[in-house]
Amino acid sequence: MDESGVESKTTVIVFDTTLRDGEQSPGAAMNIDEKLEIARALEEMGVDVIEAGFPISSPGDFQAVQRISKEIRNCIICGLTRANEKDIDVAAEALKDAARPRIHTGLGVSDNHIQYKLRTTRERALEMGVEAVKYARRFVDDVEYYAEDAGRADPEYLYRVVEAVIDAGATVVNIPDTTGYSTPAEFGALIRGIRENVPNIDKAIISVHCHNDLGMATANTLSAVLNGARQVEVTINGIGERAGNTSLEEVVMALKTRRDVFGVDTRINTRRIYPVSRLVSQLTGIPVQPNKAIVGANAFAHSSGIHQDGVLKERTTYEIINPRDVGAPDSAIILSARSGRHGLRHRLEELGYTLDDEQFEKVYQRFLEVADRKKTVDTRDLEAIVSDEARLFFEEAYHLEQVQVTCGNMSIPTATVRIKGPDGQVYCDADHGTGPVDAVYRAINRVIGEPNELIEFSVQAVTEGIDAVGRVTIRIQADEPVNGGARRVFSGHGADTDIIVASANAYMHALNRLIAARREARQG
Ligand code: KIV
Ligand code: ZN
Repeated sequence: MDESGVESKTTVIVFDTTLRDGEQSPGAAMNIDEKLEIARALEEMGVDVIEAGFPISSPGDFQAVQRISKEIRNCIICGLTRANEKDIDVAAEALKDAARPRIHTGLGVSDNHIQYKLRTTRERALEMGVEAVKYARRFVDDVEYYAEDAGRADPEYLYRVVEAVIDAGATVVNIPDTTGYSTPAEFGALIRGIRENVPNIDKAIISVHCHNDLGMATANTLSAVLNGARQVEVTINGIGERAGNTSLEEVVMALKTRRDVFGVDTRINTRRIYPVSRLVSQLTGIPVQPNKAIVGANAFAHSSGIHQDGVLKERTTYEIINPRDVGAPDSAIILSARSGRHGLRHRLEELGYTLDDEQFEKVYQRFLEVADRKKTVDTRDLEAIVSDEARLFFEEAYHLEQVQVTCGNMSIPTATVRIKGPDGQVYCDADHGTGPVDAVYRAINRVIGEPNELIEFSVQAVTEGIDAVGRVTIRIQADEPVNGGARRVFSGHGADTDIIVASANAYMHALNRLIAARREARQG
C-alpha cells in the first residue's frame, strides 16, 4: 500500500502472525512484555501488519492486543475473531487505540469445515461471513476476511464467498491453505482463478496464509505471489500450528534474491532478520533447527574442504545470499575476559541485542564466568548466554540461588536446592531421583509445588569441545485455570557449561512462566 492505503502492484505486504498463529505452537506461550518486545522488533524490521492476537481467546491475549495497539504506531495492528458479534466486539475494544486497526474475521469455506465444524450449509456459512464483515466495518475501516481451509474448498463456492465479502466491505481477502494440503501449482492456480472469476477483486488485496504440513508453505506462498497475491502471512522462524506457517525470512529473501523471477519488493529491512529470529527463539523457547534456511546456525557454514576453498576464493561460489544482508553474525569473532565491557557491548549490538544497563551487567558477569572456564567465547556462546540471562530479565516469582548434586555409579543421585520465593524468603530442600536432573527437579518441586508434567527435555552443545556451553530446552504441561482447565505447554531454557545448572535453570524458567500465566489469568 502507498500512504493513501492503495495497493502497489510491485510491493508485497508482509503480515506477521508470530504473535497469533506462531504463539499457537505448543510451548510458545509468551507474556505481554515478551509480546510487546517482539512487536517492537517487527515494527523496526519493517513489517506492515502485525497480527497481535485473538482478543477473545484469553484475558492475556486481549491485554497484549491492547498494549501493542497503544505502543506500536507504524504498523497496522490486527486482531483475529470468529465470525460472530461477541468476538468482533471484544477485538474492536482491544484495538481501539491502534493508529491503524484491522479486524480479521472469517469462517470455513471447505465442505469439510462447513459440514463437520460449522454444521451448517454453504448458503448459511456465506451469510454468516457477510454479516461478520458488515458488523466489523461498524468499528474499523480495514476488515480482512479469512476463508478458512480455502486450499480444500470448491473454487466456484470460494469465488462466490470472496465476491460477497468484498461487497460487504472486506478490504483484504485471505486465502488460507489451513491444512497445508495444496501443491504450489494448485495454489497458484487457485489465486489466479480468484483474480479471473471474482468480478470485484480489484477492490481488495489478496492475502495468502499457508501452513507447512507437507513442507510446501513457502513454495505455495511464492506461487501465490506469482499469481497476484499481494499480502503474505508469515511467522518468524516459521513457527505456528502443527508444522508451522510460512516463514517470513524464507519468503522475504526468496523475493529479494530472485527479484528477476518475482518482480516485487517488500519493505523489510533484511539486516534485522537474524536478530529478530534469535529474539523469537529466545522468548518462545523454540530452537531454530541448525539447517533452517536463512537463519539456521549452518545456513552460511561451509564444512567440506572443496566448498571452503571455493568460498575463500570467491564468496559467491557457494553463497547466494551475503550473510550480512540478513544480519547473520560472523561466528569467527571471538571474545575473551580481556575484551572488557566495551568490547562485549559492541559485539552484542552487532548481534542485534539492545540491553539496558542492568541487563547488560548481568550478561557481562555471566560472560566473565564463561570466559574464565572456556578462555574464549564465540558468537554461539554469547547467544546462549544472552538467551539464558533473558530468563532473568523476565520477572521471576522464584529465583534459584543454589543447586548442588551428588551422583555417580555408587551413590543415589541427590540434589539440594536453595530458592528465593516471591515473599523474599529463602527455602532449602533436597530430594533424590533416578538421575541428577530428576533429583534436581524433584527438589525444586518440593519447594515450588506447582503440579506439572515434564513432556520434553533436550540438551544441545552450543559449541564443539569438552568445555562447551550446554543449552537445555524443556517443555512442561499443566492445567490452565482459564479455557476451562485446558492443558497448556510452557517451555523453558537454560545454558551453562554445567548441564545440571542449565537443566535447573531451564526448569525454573518454565515454572516461572507457568506461574506468570496463572497470575495473568487470575488478574484478567
Ligand atoms: O490457518 C488458518 O486458516 C488461520 C486462519 C484463522 C487465518 O490461521
Ligand atoms: Zn493459520
